[in-house]
Amino acid sequence: MMKRKQMVKITIDLLMTVLLLFLMAYSLAGEAIHEWIGIALFALFILHHILNRRWCRNLFRGQYTPIRACQTALVLLVFFCMIGSLTSGVLLSRYVFRLDIHSFSAVLQTVHMLCAYWGFVFLSLHLGMHWRVIMGMAGKLMKKSSKGCKGILRMTASLIAVYGAYAFIKRDFGNYMLLRYHFVFFDFEEPLVLFLLDYAAILGLFVCVGYYISVLFIRKKNR
Ligand code: HEM
Repeated sequence: MMKRKQMVKITIDLLMTVLLLFLMAYSLAGEAIHEWIGIALFALFILHHILNRRWCRNLFRGQYTPIRACQTALVLLVFFCMIGSLTSGVLLSRYVFRLDIHSFSAVLQTVHMLCAYWGFVFLSLHLGMHWRVIMGMAGKLMKKSSKGCKGILRMTASLIAVYGAYAFIKRDFGNYMLLRYHFVFFDFEEPLVLFLLDYAAILGLFVCVGYYISVLFIRKKNR
């Protein structure tokens, strides 16, 4: 029974991550499709919170260690970015809702862009800080992994992080976060899969950063 719940949880987390990657590819994936994917992600986001409701219930209980404070702050940041992208997206919608709100569109576009890019980073860090739990669940589902297997996984993670840093620069990710551009530039000649792979590597980079931040916290605690 427990196994099935964990399987559902992990599948939903994986699906949300894949949908997020497609959302970042906005025009390249298709503008109307983008809106439907955004709505689907919102539905999964609600489901994710229902499945993790025990965490929400315990929010005001127990002691706050530095790592717990950091994880909770990140969850709140992801939450605000998600709500920000969704509300601004619905108000800007050109296909599904078509609200035609023109007066605030510049502000809404700015909110949408900031929430999308910062939300992507916060979510990746959030995944990284909970990586132990995710790997623990995956490990239980796939039976225990050997030492050699762990080494290969670590090596792969390092390669992804290095390539992710390169993709971060190549794709001007930082400039979008700092709002140096007001629109995302898409190269329509480029196959969608290459865009998705680069963004997946950037996600991987921040998962690694999040993971090592959590390791630092744990080491400090055990000292
Ligand atoms: C977590 C959810 C979402 C993420 C990460 C996301 C991400 C993005 C990104 C990266 C862009 C390109 C930014 C630009 O060029 O301005 C964009 C544009 C857009 N998105 Fe989303 N989006 C999300 C949800 C939604 C939803 C739910 C809708 C509508 C139902 C939506 C509607 C739009 C529209 C209309 C644009 C064009 C904005 C413009 O006029 O510049 N988005 N989104």
